Amino acid sequence: MKEKIILTGDRPTGRLHIGHFVGSLRRRVELQNSGEYDKIFIMIADAQALTDNADNPEKIRQNVIEVALDYLACGLDPSKSTIFIQSAVPELTELAFYYMNLVTVSRLQRNPTVKTEIQMRNFETSIPVGFFTYPISQASDITAFKATTVPVGEDQKPMLEQTMEIVRRFNYIYGETLVEPQILLPDNAACLRLPGTDGKAKMSKSLGNCIYLSDSADEVKKKIRSMYTDPDHLRVQDPGKIEGNTVFTYLDAFCTQEHVDKYLPDYPTLDALKEHYQRGGLGDVKCKNFLNAVMEDVLAPIRERRKQFEQDIPAVYEMLRRGCEKAREQAAITLDEVRSAMKINYFDDAELIAEQAKRFKELSNQK
Ligand code: TRP
Repeated sequence: MKEKIILTGDRPTGRLHIGHFVGSLRRRVELQNSGEYDKIFIMIADAQALTDNADNPEKIRQNVIEVALDYLACGLDPSKSTIFIQSAVPELTELAFYYMNLVTVSRLQRNPTVKTEIQMRNFETSIPVGFFTYPISQASDITAFKATTVPVGEDQKPMLEQTMEIVRRFNYIYGETLVEPQILLPDNAACLRLPGTDGKAKMSKSLGNCIYLSDSADEVKKKIRSMYTDPDHLRVQDPGKIEGNTVFTYLDAFCTQEHVDKYLPDYPTLDALKEHYQRGGLGDVKCKNFLNAVMEDVLAPIRERRKQFEQDIPAVYEMLRRGCEKAREQAAITLDEVRSAMKINYFDDAELIAEQAKRFKELSNQK
């Protein structure tokens, strides 16, 4: 049977926030602990982060360790999941270079994620080539590990489509070599794209609307207290809207029945709380206090574990170093297969050398 392999990762451009958590991190830990996967690779995508941070390498360098700590804090376990740094696996860049021949410029220009990111960064006419081609590099990340499953957020969908196209084209031209990956999206709509605390579409550091996994209990409380709700819900007795109300979106993403039983025994379910809010007579403060209790249940253990790992930073780097070695071994196997499929494996092809020797001998005999 075909091995079940996971590959996914994050750019180390900052500490990870709860959008990362519900979008992919929480799922990874579940998948890891399910025991259903033969191999799991979790990549800190520093090379990809540099595609739009070339002038700020220190930022990437600082955040590699932050992301590693966030991973460990969430429960990724190096004995089950190989955590590694992208740039330490040069096979990935080599593979991307070959894939570049299989993708057109116009295809990259149509990639919706790249399009929005170009707008967000005001690149317009000065797009770095490396940034423009990062979907290709992402295809090499995924395929170098023969990933069958890629758990990511919805924004990564176009990257997986691009990967599929490359896999099919490569296999068509060079023969069956690469594995087609499957995307694994969050199953809960609120988790697909968790809004920022200000209600804006996406959590982003530059908008200052994130709750970080490493935020203190006080910081989380403050952020929840000032969270965007329903701007027309002015008095407690007014009916309120739950659509687009960040407090309820977050509850959808984080709240379980146990949370309701534990903190709101007066309500049978989260739906009952929503109905009360919509009917009127339920204040924002009560909802926010409930959300804060739920978030603390989720975040306190993560925060605690992070603090423990922070006690021994050299050990975290050592874990990463070992992960890089392991990842590199795996990628090297695929690269051997790729090189032989592409007929650029000159030295381990005895037949080729013999054939050429024969051909040149015949040529010289004819003279
Ligand atoms: N693009 C991802 C992000 O922005 C990071 C990433 C790089 C990735 N290579 C990947 C994710 C391969 C999944 C698979 O966070």
